[in-house]
Amino acid sequence: MKNPNTVIVQLENISKTFRTRTSFLTGASKEVVALNRVSFEIFKGEIFGLVGESGSGKTTIGRLMVKLETPDSGKLWVDGNDIAHIKGRKLKNFRRKVQMIFQDPYQSLNPYLSVFDSVSEPLVVHNVGDSKTRRDRVRQSLHAVGLSPPDDLFYRYPHQMSGGQRQRIAIARAMVLEPEFVVADEPTSMLDASIAIHIFNILSDLRKKFKVTFLFITHSLAAARYLCDRIAVIYKGEIVETGPAEDIIQNPQHPYTQALIKAHPRFRHAIKRDITR
Ligand SMILES: Nc1ncnc2c1ncn2[C@@H]1O[C@H](COP(=O)(O)OP(=O)(O)OP(=O)(O)O)[C@@H](O)[C@H]1O
Ligand SMILES: [Mg+2]
Repeated sequence: MKNPNTVIVQLENISKTFRTRTSFLTGASKEVVALNRVSFEIFKGEIFGLVGESGSGKTTIGRLMVKLETPDSGKLWVDGNDIAHIKGRKLKNFRRKVQMIFQDPYQSLNPYLSVFDSVSEPLVVHNVGDSKTRRDRVRQSLHAVGLSPPDDLFYRYPHQMSGGQRQRIAIARAMVLEPEFVVADEPTSMLDASIAIHIFNILSDLRKKFKVTFLFITHSLAAARYLCDRIAVIYKGEIVETGPAEDIIQNPQHPYTQALIKAHPRFRHAIKRDITR
């Protein structure tokens, strides 16, 4: 792989096809090529945007990176590990260092766990600290996502909070182990625009404070431009363009990217209001 001091994630010709049963009786099945020879890398400390329309393969890439899915072919390195061959103690360490934030916070939060239990659970699983240290870490993590004074929130349940608060709890849970790399899969698509910007600013602060690297998945070029250093544009399972966010917006090379920008009136003067469209 490339220099592990500067590169945290590297994909080389990653392909993935899903097979789904279409008939219970005949056992007939259908194949969907989700990813076709995808290659790019993410540098340490950056917020890297993966932009594309629905069904283009964004979530599949995110799930591969956190090892919730395995590629059919190609090479994938994350945080110095070849993901295909990681087992045992190394895998446990990997699970600690690499986290994912989902589009729907209910996917990361157990509705039966209080805020404190949800955010402290990763510490318990990885055997980090005694109960006092855990309390402090939970408090710090909630504070880092702008939820303070956090003690009021400790014993609330997900359904007793707003969507924006729930997503912040999910982010706090992802951050409590101080990961190196976090996949944020459309973390604001269920929230309204003002809260989305608030969440973007939280991610940006977390990157600065904890030196964590983010893959930010979005269907919105405007959101990617607001938050990301570099962007990859994905179209039907293939990366069509990669580069610094501003270069891609100002000088798109691929017809699909050009179409995305054209579909976005006033894009060149992107205003915050556009971000969650
Ligand atoms: N577990 C699965 N089984 C079968 N097909 C799948 C599975 N997961 C994804 N797919 C298919 O793979 C393709 C890519 O899906 P993916 O979820 O990665 O897209 P996406 O870019 O995240 O879309 P969205 O923006 O709607 O979330 C789609 O055609 C999808 O139907
Ligand atoms: Mg998705």
